[in-house]
Amino acid sequence: MSGPGRPTAAERSLLIRAGVLAARGHGRVSPNPAVGAVVMIGGRVVGEGWHEGAGLAHAEPVALAAAGDAARGATLVCTLEPCSHTGRTGPCTQAIIGAGIARVVIGALDPLERTRGEGVRILRQAGIEVAVADGSDAARAREVAAPFLIWAATGRPEVTLKMAASLDGRVATRTGETRWISGPEARSLVHRWRADADAVAVGVGTAVADDPMLTARGMPVAAGRAALRVVLDPHARLPLTAALLATLDEAPVLVVAGSGAPAERVSALQSAGADVEVTPAAHGPMYLGEALDALGRREVQSVLVEGGPTIAGAMLDAGLVDVLAWVVAPVVIGGDGAPVAARGVGADRIAGAPRVQRPRIERLGDDVLVMGRLRPVPGEE
Ligand SMILES: NC(=O)c1ccc[n+]([C@@H]2O[C@H](COP(=O)([O-])OP(=O)(O)OC[C@H]3O[C@@H](n4cnc5c(N)ncnc54)[C@H](OP(=O)(O)O)[C@@H]3O)[C@@H](O)[C@H]2O)c1
Repeated sequence: MSGPGRPTAAERSLLIRAGVLAARGHGRVSPNPAVGAVVMIGGRVVGEGWHEGAGLAHAEPVALAAAGDAARGATLVCTLEPCSHTGRTGPCTQAIIGAGIARVVIGALDPLERTRGEGVRILRQAGIEVAVADGSDAARAREVAAPFLIWAATGRPEVTLKMAASLDGRVATRTGETRWISGPEARSLVHRWRADADAVAVGVGTAVADDPMLTARGMPVAAGRAALRVVLDPHARLPLTAALLATLDEAPVLVVAGSGAPAERVSALQSAGADVEVTPAAHGPMYLGEALDALGRREVQSVLVEGGPTIAGAMLDAGLVDVLAWVVAPVVIGGDGAPVAARGVGADRIAGAPRVQRPRIERLGDDVLVMGRLRPVPGEE
């Protein structure tokens, strides 16, 4: 269905384009949402824009500036409802009205209760036609802004749990070797995800066993935007010799300790340059939830959790995972002592097991990526 209140077929395809533009902001825009915008007149695209980072212009004014005079009488298609508040860059609604835009197509409404619909109201009041997407178009628009939407609704970041497993679900050999289960294509994609995330986290078991750096190697990372590296470490037992602490010039490290962590370990880690947050809980699901709260308070809107199996299982058991990103490699590790991907309690019934909704299944070299959401983005009908 189309009409003034509904996007036309051409506008729907421009919403897809605006989503692609918006995604360029991933890893750069928090605490703002990733937003993209396209200006079209007479079936021709005359301007495009995306939000490039907090404090910089929003997507809509960027697209309007690119369109220049051609914006007069044109249609603006944007993934998220234009803001009506004077933040660091002034209200987008005013920029749209000032540019003489005749019609605005919005992918998803503002997630914040107090401002939802405000942009639409101001634009309509100025005589601008406004169409708001629904169904799969709205879902796609929400998807691109998901980290912001989840953070705005819950105060916690979007949690993506990434694992690389063998065909028999093992994530290391019985001797603890993991390098490399997956191939170069999958590993390179993980570096891309690290560059796009606000934070990358591992359990202290992985930090000890693998001594990872968790940096996004070989990927362009916006200046000052290297992902915060987080160690989920209830007893503050991260070794002071850890590669994470030896590479503080590349990206900061946050150790999340529990309330029972020895004070001398906490101060030793602080002296070694780590930021240490001590949660009210000592351990368990409460500790994990509070660790996510702590990240949310630091305006971390997305965290890529890279295992290991104890953390993976604990997070799944506690229902804290938004997105699964599972790489399956064509290798059988076998053996009773080789760790499986997710420990913890696990599911009693198949029907109750966390299952990805509409997974994206992709071939990465010789590996297969199975990825998708375990729960909907807030605001979904
Ligand atoms: N293939 C892959 O994708 C992949 C990815 C990561 C790791 N690995 C492999 O996995 C192995 C390490 O796994 P792991 O299971 O020992 O380590 P892990 O999951 O990285 O860390 C486990 C530790 O996390 C802490 N923790 C924090 N919150 C917890 C909670 N709610 N419940 C339980 N523990 C919590 C505990 O520390 P405390 O003991 O101090 O309480 C626990 O020992 C290594 O061999 C590594 O190479 C493979």
